[in-house]
Amino acid sequence: MGFGMGLNLLLLLAMVATNILSLYHLSSSLQNKSSSSSLSSPIPDHLHHQLNTIRATINHLTNLRSTTKPTSSKPISSLPSDLLLYSHLSPIASSCRNYPELLHKYMNYKPYSICPLDNDLAESLILRGCHPLPRRRCFSQTITKIPSSLPINPFPSSLPDSAMIWASYRCKNFQCFNSVNENLGFNMMIESNKFTSFQSDLDLPISQLLQIAKMGMSVIRLALDVGAATGTFAAKMKLYNVTVLSTSMNLGAPYNEVIALRGLVPLHVPLQQRFPIFDGVVDLVRFSHAINRWIPINAMEFMFYDVDRVLRSGGYFWLDHFFSKGVDLEKIYAPLIGKLGYKKIKWATANKTDSSGLKNGEVYLTALLQKPIVK
Ligand SMILES: *[C@@H]1O[C@H](CO)[C@@H](O)[C@H](O)[C@H]1NC(C)=O
Ligand SMILES: *[C@@H]1O[C@H](CO)[C@@H](O)[C@H](O)[C@H]1NC(C)=O
Ligand SMILES: *[C@@H]1O[C@H](CO)[C@@H](O)[C@H](O)[C@H]1NC(C)=O
Repeated sequence: MGFGMGLNLLLLLAMVATNILSLYHLSSSLQNKSSSSSLSSPIPDHLHHQLNTIRATINHLTNLRSTTKPTSSKPISSLPSDLLLYSHLSPIASSCRNYPELLHKYMNYKPYSICPLDNDLAESLILRGCHPLPRRRCFSQTITKIPSSLPINPFPSSLPDSAMIWASYRCKNFQCFNSVNENLGFNMMIESNKFTSFQSDLDLPISQLLQIAKMGMSVIRLALDVGAATGTFAAKMKLYNVTVLSTSMNLGAPYNEVIALRGLVPLHVPLQQRFPIFDGVVDLVRFSHAINRWIPINAMEFMFYDVDRVLRSGGYFWLDHFFSKGVDLEKIYAPLIGKLGYKKIKWATANKTDSSGLKNGEVYLTALLQKPIVK
């Protein structure tokens, strides 16, 4: 088993190295596009050599694996053939390398049959940066009843339990989730009151947001909501004819399914993932309170600049109830946000007064920032 695992790890490492090398070659050949020498020798000799060595290693390992397979007793020691096949088609995210067992488990399935019900496994991998996940050749499980109608209103009076596969969740209906915590986003009565009222400086009701944009001679028509839970911001904005894409993970509850059930667009991507959106095309990016001090600072900084990338000039960046330790807001986060060079339309802070907030000296920040037209 140890040998098999070692082999698998080696294979993964080799695959990752190949990808990195290809990338390096791509970037360096782009840099040298204008130079004449790059025409005569498109791949530098030393890279070519390394690339060949790595490919040979992979081939060798693959052959070795298929000859050792019959003698290996434990199933985990065999490399899933679909993982191997997929690795020839497309790069496997480098973070996957750190979790070979999870990845192998995920790719160990029977091709052309029903996929295993392993949402938790997929979620774990994605959270660890193994994203995008490799594709699989199996049929995903689906509900057996075709819905006869779907709600047009993104605030239906109730969410249909029958539209869901409940097997991977602790709760087996929406009522159960509501009784665990009515603020998870599954109680439509509660959701319909969000983004409507101004109870403290930290609030920015949608009516006010749109008023600000209008006064700034700006239009909000397309937006991205990061950490969107069940998509209530998108639901509210839909009533104003604004299209919002909602990113959400499925941590223990069917957030993505519910976003879709409400007729909204769920993007199942983790926070460290580059937004799957082109440059300069959205009018507004909102960060929910899911983006807070628990995100490593480097990841946060890259995320801020990805927001800048997707925002058009004059677009808005809204940090909604961001929280951190008071001293960190002053020393770390405010300077980080300042580096973007955005205009501060709103900047409100307040002590976070729940138990963990008091214990850790946390503060909230709600900020509305506007990307400058010219840098
Ligand atoms: C790119 O061109 C520069 C200058 O001509 C050269 O020094 C460098 O080695 C080239 N890079 C690669 C990867 O070929
Ligand atoms: C949204 O669009 C519909 C159809 O064009 C229109 O009737 C409605 O007034 C619009 N709503 C708002 C809030 O602009
Ligand atoms: C916020 O908390 C700090 C200490 O954590 C305290 O000094 C300050 O007075 C509080 N501010 C308000 C407005 O309550």
